Amino acid sequence: MTARIIDGKLIAAELRARVADEVARLKRAHRLTPGLAVVLVGNDPASEVYVRSKHTQTQAAGMASFEHRLSAEIAQADLLALIAKLNRDPAVHGILVQLPLPKSIHTETVINAIDPAKDVDGLHPSNAGRLAGGFEALSPCTPLGCIILTKSVHASLEGMNAIVIGRSNLVGRPLLQLLLNENATVTIAHSRSRELARLCARADLVYAAVGRPEMVRADWIKPGATVIDVGINRLPAGDGKTRLVGDVAFREVAEVAGAITPVPGGVGQMTVACLLVNTLRAACAIAGLPKPGV
Ligand code: GUN
Repeated sequence: MTARIIDGKLIAAELRARVADEVARLKRAHRLTPGLAVVLVGNDPASEVYVRSKHTQTQAAGMASFEHRLSAEIAQADLLALIAKLNRDPAVHGILVQLPLPKSIHTETVINAIDPAKDVDGLHPSNAGRLAGGFEALSPCTPLGCIILTKSVHASLEGMNAIVIGRSNLVGRPLLQLLLNENATVTIAHSRSRELARLCARADLVYAAVGRPEMVRADWIKPGATVIDVGINRLPAGDGKTRLVGDVAFREVAEVAGAITPVPGGVGQMTVACLLVNTLRAACAIAGLPKPGV
């Protein structure tokens, strides 16, 4: 293997430590404890794991963590009432509704109900629009993590050719905007794109966020490119357990790429760390304090 492995676990731990320092300073200097409310509807096993990890890491950073676990049968009006309560609660600076929601609930209506100032997922149209306009915004955590990982390899992304494979609201679209803010030249590809391999072969930076196991192959990659794998796919491991694989065929791509994120231990680690950063930023903005140094 020739590629440098980007250690998301280490970079996320460093980021969490910086958040914890800043939280301690806010408590001392301003008696402000940032608070994050996470709402989980139903009991999707993957979501359960994420929510538990968010709770543990929020507390470890010295922040207040408020968990709301609701039945999958909850009426949409009751979920909206909870969000209205969290919007008014002065101890809550960040609100995250874990996705996906049960089919009986209209996701867009729920996201639109979150106060944009507390929308630490960056999914509210107000934040998505601000990001697209190049204005200051709360931005989705996974794309923020992707940018930090890329910058651990390249101090500047200016003028680089980037390709984002996937156009979801949670990853692909906001990542496109964040890369533009870094002055990269960005192509966004998706399931209908033609000649994906050829588009990829031009890219200095490849972001795979499609949810298709090991779709990106070695012969798609320009030698020396940086490859960021956002995919988290659970495949049967044969012994009744599951194993995680990304959207990139890691072993073969690592022979061609200059740097690559592993799965697990890459982007996944960064998402929660960036959620803590967003909660910190939201708390400072709501309290009228300057933007934190993290
Ligand atoms: N489900 C998987 N990833 C995410 C995320 O980043 N935010 C929310 N709200 N739900 C998710």
